[in-house]
Amino acid sequence: MNQYQQKVKIMSNKFEQYKGLMKRVADVHHTIALLHWDQETIMPSKGAAFRAQQIGTLAGISHEMFVDEKLGGLLNELNNDSSLNEREAKNIQETLKDYEKKKKYPTEFVEKLSVTVAESTHVWEKAREADDFSMFELHLQKVIELKRQECDILGYEEHPYNAMLDNFEPGAKVADLDVLFTDVRKQLVDFVKKIGQKAQVEDSFLKKHYDHQKQWDFGIDLLKQMHYDFDAGLQELSAHPFTTNFNPCDVRVTTRINENDFTSMTWSCIHEGGHALYEQGLSTDDYGLPTGDAISLGVHESQSRLWENHVGRGYGYWVANYPHLQGLFDENLSNVSLDEFYKAINLVKPSLIRVEADELTYHSHILIRYEIEKALMAGDVEVKDLPEYWNSKYKEYLDVDVPSNKEGVLQDIHWSSGLIGYFPTYSIGSFYSAQYFAKAKEEIPDLTSQIESGELKPLLDWLRDKIHQHGRMYSAEELCVKVTGEKLNFQHFMDYAEKKYSEIYDLKMEEAL
Ligand code: CO
Repeated sequence: MNQYQQKVKIMSNKFEQYKGLMKRVADVHHTIALLHWDQETIMPSKGAAFRAQQIGTLAGISHEMFVDEKLGGLLNELNNDSSLNEREAKNIQETLKDYEKKKKYPTEFVEKLSVTVAESTHVWEKAREADDFSMFELHLQKVIELKRQECDILGYEEHPYNAMLDNFEPGAKVADLDVLFTDVRKQLVDFVKKIGQKAQVEDSFLKKHYDHQKQWDFGIDLLKQMHYDFDAGLQELSAHPFTTNFNPCDVRVTTRINENDFTSMTWSCIHEGGHALYEQGLSTDDYGLPTGDAISLGVHESQSRLWENHVGRGYGYWVANYPHLQGLFDENLSNVSLDEFYKAINLVKPSLIRVEADELTYHSHILIRYEIEKALMAGDVEVKDLPEYWNSKYKEYLDVDVPSNKEGVLQDIHWSSGLIGYFPTYSIGSFYSAQYFAKAKEEIPDLTSQIESGELKPLLDWLRDKIHQHGRMYSAEELCVKVTGEKLNFQHFMDYAEKKYSEIYDLKMEEAL
C-alpha cells in the first residue's frame, strides 16, 4: 500500500466514523419524532406532562451528541480531505455548517427558550379559547425578547430577521423577500380584488353531510393513486394534519375529517401526501446525513403544494376522480356537474383564518405575518400593539374586519412556540411549486392527459429524479436553477393564477393583467 492509498484508507475510516456518529444522532432525533407522533395521535391526555419531560431529555441528549468535540474534530479533518467524492464532501460541508451553528447556542439559552416556549404555548391555547390577548401578552413578550437574543447569538448581516429566516429556509434574506412580497402585494392582491368584482361561484354542496368512513376511504384511495407507499407509511387522524418521518421506509401522515365539509380531509390528505412522497423519496443509504434529508421547509412545502394545488385542485385531476366521488356521495353531488364542482373547490374569497384560505388569498395572510415578524425582530413594533397592528393589515390587504383576537392575532400556534421565520416558507413553497410544475409540464409532454386518467407515476418519477433523491446536495436556490434554469421567479405563480382564475371567474385576460 503506498502512502496515498494509506491516507485514503485512514480517511475513509474517518468518514465511516462520521457516518456512524450521525446515524446515532438521527436515531435519537427520530425517536423524538415517534414520541411526538404518538402524542398527537393516540396518547391519553394525562400523559402530556411526562411526555414533555421525555421529549426534553431526548432533545438534550441529541444536542449533546451533535455538538460533541469528537464529531467537531472529525468534521474539521474531513473538511480538508480531497479524497472524498462530491456527495461525501457536501455532507461534511453541510454538517460542519450545522455543527458550527448549534455550537453557538449556550446551554443556558437553549434551556430558557425551551421552558419559555413550552409555557407560552400552553398559555396561548387558553388565551385563544378565552379570546383574551392580555393573558398571552407578557408570555409572547418573553418569547420575542429571547428570539431577538437568538438573532444576536447566531449573528446576521443587514437585518436581524435574516438570522431567523435562515433557521427554516437557509439562504433566505429580507432583501429578496421584500422584493417577492412587494410582487405579491402589487400583483396578487390586486388580482384578487378584480376577482372580487365578479359574480361569486356556488359552493354550498361542499358543506353538506359527508359520511366519516366514506371520506376516510376516499382519502386512502387518493394516497394510493399518488403512489404513497403504504408499506412504508400509514395514515391516522389528528387535530391538525401533519407528516412525520422516522426514515424513508416509515413516513406517516395524518388527516382530519369534518362531516359537514369534505374539503378539509381531501386537500389535507393530498397536501400531506405530497410531503410524504418527498420523504419516502430520500436516500435510505444516506440516513442521518444531509444528503438524506430535505433541503428546507420551502422546498418541502413546494412538494406538498404541487400535489395539493397544481394537481389536486386542477381540472384534470377531477376528470379522473370526480365520478368516483360522485358515486360515493350521490345524495350531495348527483346534480352537480364536474364544471360546477371544479369552480366550487377553487372559490376565492378573502377571509380571516389562514389555514382555511384559498390558494390566492393565502399569500396575503403570509405577507401580513412576514411584515409583522420583520418589525418585531427589528424592534419596530411592540407586542402590546400587535392586535391593532394585525387588524389594520387585514383591513388593508384583505379588506376584512377582524371581529376578535381569536380570529385574528391569536389564531396561529407559531409565535407562541418560538417559530419566527417559519411563515414565509409557506409562500416560498407555493411559488416554487408553480415553477416546478410548469417545468414538469414542459418535460412530460403527456402530463395533462396522464393526470386526467389518474396516471400519476410519471410525475412522481420526475419529482424523484429532479428533487427528492438529492437531499441537501444542492441549496434550494441551486436546485431551482438546476431543474428550471432560473432562480425562484414569482411570475410562474402569477401566470398560473391568472390563467386558471380568469377562466373560473370569467375575467378577460386584459382585465386580469
Ligand atoms: Co405543509
